[in-house]
Amino acid sequence: MNTNAVVIQAQDLQTHFALRSGVFSALTGQKPVAVRALDGVDLTIRRREVVGLIGESGCGKSTLGMSLVRMYQPTGGKIRFFGDDITDVQGAELKSYRHQAQLIFQDPYSSLNPRLTIGEIVEEPLRIHRIGTAADRARKVAHALDLVRVPASEYLHRYPNALSGGQRQRIAIARALVLEPKFIVADEPVSMLDVSIQASVLEILDELSKELGLAVLYISHDIATVGYICDHVAVMYLGQIVEEGPAEDILTAPRHPYTQRLMAAIPSVSGERSRERVELSGDVPSPLNVPPGCRFSSRCPYATDLCRTEPPALANDIGTQRVRCHLYSAEGMAPANEPEMV
Ligand SMILES: Nc1ncnc2c1ncn2[C@@H]1O[C@H](COP(=O)(O)OP(=O)(O)O)[C@@H](O)[C@H]1O
Ligand code: SF4
Ligand SMILES: [Mg+2]
Repeated sequence: MNTNAVVIQAQDLQTHFALRSGVFSALTGQKPVAVRALDGVDLTIRRREVVGLIGESGCGKSTLGMSLVRMYQPTGGKIRFFGDDITDVQGAELKSYRHQAQLIFQDPYSSLNPRLTIGEIVEEPLRIHRIGTAADRARKVAHALDLVRVPASEYLHRYPNALSGGQRQRIAIARALVLEPKFIVADEPVSMLDVSIQASVLEILDELSKELGLAVLYISHDIATVGYICDHVAVMYLGQIVEEGPAEDILTAPRHPYTQRLMAAIPSVSGERSRERVELSGDVPSPLNVPPGCRFSSRCPYATDLCRTEPPALANDIGTQRVRCHLYSAEGMAPANEPEMV
């Protein structure tokens, strides 16, 4: 298999949530209202690649993760899995896709059934998908526990309440791995863990991605943890990606004014880290009422009339870095200098 094969690809992906249904509208005469949680996202993740997805709370990160694993049905655009269009597959095809695309949730305390042993929890997806004999399943469970460095002999018959948060999250990862997926969405997988053990859980995810050839979408509001494991970073704002590129470039030389403000809100990317959610000044527009022009214009210190009327495209800036900002586009303001932070 091509080691750099594209595993998952979003093309102009949209997921809108209807707040007032067509029936409600017909009865009341009010227009249907939709939350445009994802509004035209392009993203590619290859084998052995960990892509970090960052942005403030409510910008659409979880919606993108849930849409890519088809827990949410996209409203428009395409999702390709190894080139196949799986955007609308249903029935057996959807089941087969879900088998290969797994989700790891934020809360390791509520995601594990307290009445099942560790062995039963990790085996459960195999039972649900009716995979293997009891002996096959036992072998796969032991292998999955081995991958997350939890000794099966010691933990197989224990219950989740005997485990620390970090151990629980390793079990949640083993539960996802037992189906031998090709793509994993890890949605804020360490944000509820003690800072001292976050790195060890993230290292496991990174190693597994390289060893097993997994494509991983690592969602986080904490930019500092993204630096630990991500090869590539995408920054979201109000349902769209505003900047993306190699992790090192984005973290050391952010170009988009929004990314720059996110970075400035963190005391130090490499040193002491804040566990607080990043709060930036200015009103975040609602995804119910997306502004015309650049979505960041209401909070951007460089906004001009062009910004308030013309939406910028996500275009190549330098090398492999792409930025959605008129400051860097040919039609935008000249010169395309890097703005000073205010
Ligand atoms: N099931 C849903 N129904 C309606 N609105 C939703 C639903 N899920 C998310 N949203 C809205 O979509 C937007 C993006 O949410 P989300 O993807 O959870 O953001 P994030 O994970 O970045 O915090 C928010 O405005 C949120 O309120
Ligand atoms: S397009 Fe304009 S408003 Fe938007 S981020 Fe760039 S400079 Fe700011
Ligand atoms: Mg979320």
